[in-house]
Amino acid sequence: MSPTAVPDVFDPRRYAAGLPHDSFRELRDRHPVAWQEEYEVLGWPAGPGFWAVTRHADVVRVLKDARTYSSWAGATQIRDPDPADLPFIRRMMLNQDPSPRSAGEGPADHGRLRRLVSRAFTPGRVDRFAGVARGRARRLLGAAREAGGVVDLVTAVTDEYALLNLADLLGVPESDRGLLLKWTERVIAYQDPDEPPVRGEDGEPVNPRSPAMLREMFDYAQELAAYKRRNPGDDVMTSLAGGELADAELEMFFFLLTVAGNDTVRSAAPGGFLALARHPDEQRRLRAREVAVDTAVDELLRWHPPVLSFRRTAARDTTLGGQDVREGDKVVVFHASANYDERAFEDPHRLDLARSPNPHVSFGDGPHVCLGAHFARLQLRVLHEEARALLPAVSVAAPPRRLVSNFINGLKSLPLGMDGP
Ligand code: HEM
Repeated sequence: MSPTAVPDVFDPRRYAAGLPHDSFRELRDRHPVAWQEEYEVLGWPAGPGFWAVTRHADVVRVLKDARTYSSWAGATQIRDPDPADLPFIRRMMLNQDPSPRSAGEGPADHGRLRRLVSRAFTPGRVDRFAGVARGRARRLLGAAREAGGVVDLVTAVTDEYALLNLADLLGVPESDRGLLLKWTERVIAYQDPDEPPVRGEDGEPVNPRSPAMLREMFDYAQELAAYKRRNPGDDVMTSLAGGELADAELEMFFFLLTVAGNDTVRSAAPGGFLALARHPDEQRRLRAREVAVDTAVDELLRWHPPVLSFRRTAARDTTLGGQDVREGDKVVVFHASANYDERAFEDPHRLDLARSPNPHVSFGDGPHVCLGAHFARLQLRVLHEEARALLPAVSVAAPPRRLVSNFINGLKSLPLGMDGP
């Protein structure tokens, strides 16, 4: 690479080898808002390209300024949606902006939806799930310990832990839980060659976020809501089904939660253990109770950000990090780079489980900041507390396998040695 070349952080295949720290650093230092070519990759067509935003301050600025950087104009994934699908995708709060620009036209009011669904996520309700999550962590970790030798933490513990916790929160009955897994895998793993894409009649891959792919899940959301109206429980679907949400809003929100609440925790949980296994001194500090689990969880989230990037679209001409950005340009923030920005973190490549303050952006920032952050932190805290009690010190027994994706920092396997003290 010539010294002036702009590193490529678009290629989803790069992330299968871990975070491209050298490229991110080069971008932060020399090209903080850098043009990225969006070439055809893994059977997906080429796109128009985008600006990669890699410094912490710029990432926060973009996320906080929804008037300039819209989630509505082109939705929030790097790949452009099919224009025909856009109106549909915009029914999801993730792909809306805070205030309508003019009545009846422009972005739906994100604030209204967010207020309605936040009521279903009160800390009180979420905290009531801690006991169940703890029992589940004990069962899964206990079985892993008993198996001994080398255990793949992903298949033995963390996939099931994340999925079942989410199913509890939503109120999905036991018998339907396999469906949740199928749907989330379809949506997230679609860039990964291990997951062949579903193809349409023309032989082209079907966008997993299109209405056709989602119908099955939406029908289920309506069935579940009807069931909850008849059999209310202390869960999120009960409170959504009895509230002011329109049917289409409820379907979309169910879809958003199923994806946003599952694959993120499925990434964060093994990602945290991988970081601990690779830093035996920090692992020892955690096990010896020298650091608080809460601070440790946040440092592990900084270290292994489950979400690599999110996209916005410039709603007007502007300047960012000294770079002119034109209305309509795609702007992609890289949480995975911001969390290691030397300008925001002292010694960012040192894992410090006692790091405080820790302004990582793994949960985003601004009006779309993660609605499930409290629930996610709770699950991770409980998991590490139980691991500390039940597991020996763990070590990496074989290289982990990572997801091919420029969106989710996923681990498909994490073989850990369980024979430590
Ligand atoms: C460690 C786990 C998690 C991480 C790292 C994470 C990350 C994020 C990020 C970065 C965003 C902002 C998206 C944007 O800027 O456009 C977000 C939004 C969101 N997250 Fe999470 N998330 C996690 C867990 C969860 C869980 C467990 C739930 C629900 C049960 C959840 C529900 C949501 C929802 C509903 C939004 C959209 C909020 C809005 O548009 O206003 N997340 N999450």
